[in-house]
Amino acid sequence: MKNIVILISGRGSNMQSIVNANIPNAKIAAVLSNNPNAAGLAWAAERGIATAALNHKEFASREDFDRAMMQLIDQYAPDLVVLAGFMRILTPVFCRHYENRCINIHPSLLPSFTGLHTHQRAIDEGCRIAGCTIHFVTEVLDNGAIIAQGVVPILDGDTADDVAARVLKVEHQLFPQAVADFVSGSLKIEGKRVIKQNLSDATAQLLA
Ligand code: GRF
Repeated sequence: MKNIVILISGRGSNMQSIVNANIPNAKIAAVLSNNPNAAGLAWAAERGIATAALNHKEFASREDFDRAMMQLIDQYAPDLVVLAGFMRILTPVFCRHYENRCINIHPSLLPSFTGLHTHQRAIDEGCRIAGCTIHFVTEVLDNGAIIAQGVVPILDGDTADDVAARVLKVEHQLFPQAVADFVSGSLKIEGKRVIKQNLSDATAQLLA
């Protein structure tokens, strides 16, 4: 059984999709947040999952917060840390500690549009497609090896909210699959490429 700790900052719909997937050999050990008011915390607690929040505003520095969060996370002996809408830039000390066992979802087709406001920026650039990327976390923001990407169209007249809603549906499909592939030991990192072996049934079906 692999222990998974999920970090959220808000509503936690991606976290919910991972919990609801009932991934074999995966235990959702805790859902943690930097925001005590994150709606997803209550959802997880109602399902008997351990929850806790550390308010980042109460820490003197970004690194102080990260070190405290690492202590909290490590109480659950995680095999995998999942950043599911965790809206914090992480310090090198955090990224190194969880190297190759921390994954993030980013709402763009990386390497395009790192950072914030990704959908509006894609619209402003006239892109015909948008999407999401699940990747390993490294010290460089939104830059680690890519596990999965999903693509949606950008239609004429779309607002950023329209695109976000379309992308979110794909996020909810891809993220549980990526976690399942990690848990089953199917992901091997070779440089910036993630080689996928023994794919989960869900991923194999998508490729069929
Ligand atoms: C997602 O769109 C994710 O890509 C971005 O923040 C959003 C989080 O949504 N980083 P939720 O909290 O999982 O509902």
